[in-house]
Amino acid sequence: MKIGTKSLLFGAHQFILHPFFVFLSWWRQFGFPFNPRIWVAIIVHDWGYWGAEDIDGLEGKVHPVVGAKITRFLFGRDWLEFTLQHSRYFSKGRINKLCAADKGSLCFDHWLIYIPRILLSGEVYEFIKKEDTDTYFCVIMKAYRFWKMVKSAWIENKNLIKINEDFIL
Ligand SMILES: [Fe+2]
Ligand SMILES: [Fe+2]
Repeated sequence: MKIGTKSLLFGAHQFILHPFFVFLSWWRQFGFPFNPRIWVAIIVHDWGYWGAEDIDGLEGKVHPVVGAKITRFLFGRDWLEFTLQHSRYFSKGRINKLCAADKGSLCFDHWLIYIPRILLSGEVYEFIKKEDTDTYFCVIMKAYRFWKMVKSAWIENKNLIKINEDFIL
């Protein structure tokens, strides 16, 4: 099974847990999202990982395209960009609310449920640098440090991120 598929089924982007945490992150940062189109975008935004050979590589980078096509089909062109730009690869520095909610979702994703997922899916080896001499325990500790680093980086930088005002939401 491809790593992108594993990620969606039981990994970092697990198709129920990850959208749930993105939803909580949106709610916390911007208030309750009353527009159901936002819910749909939150649910489908990472579906493009299905069948991807990697998470941060060539195939993983374009993962927002699938979700973006779905939201464009359902709600129109503005929603293509909204979903596409949840990824910094596509947003080119124009952070939208979905991107901010997505990146902040790790603050709600506790390490006790996040680390087992990335170990199980194998994504951990994309996120940390594994030495040949590393035991499995070392890998777990590195994964924990990775989770902590990403989480604290988000908490520290949150106020510095400028949400682009010309986005529709
Ligand atoms: Fe994504
Ligand atoms: Fe995401």
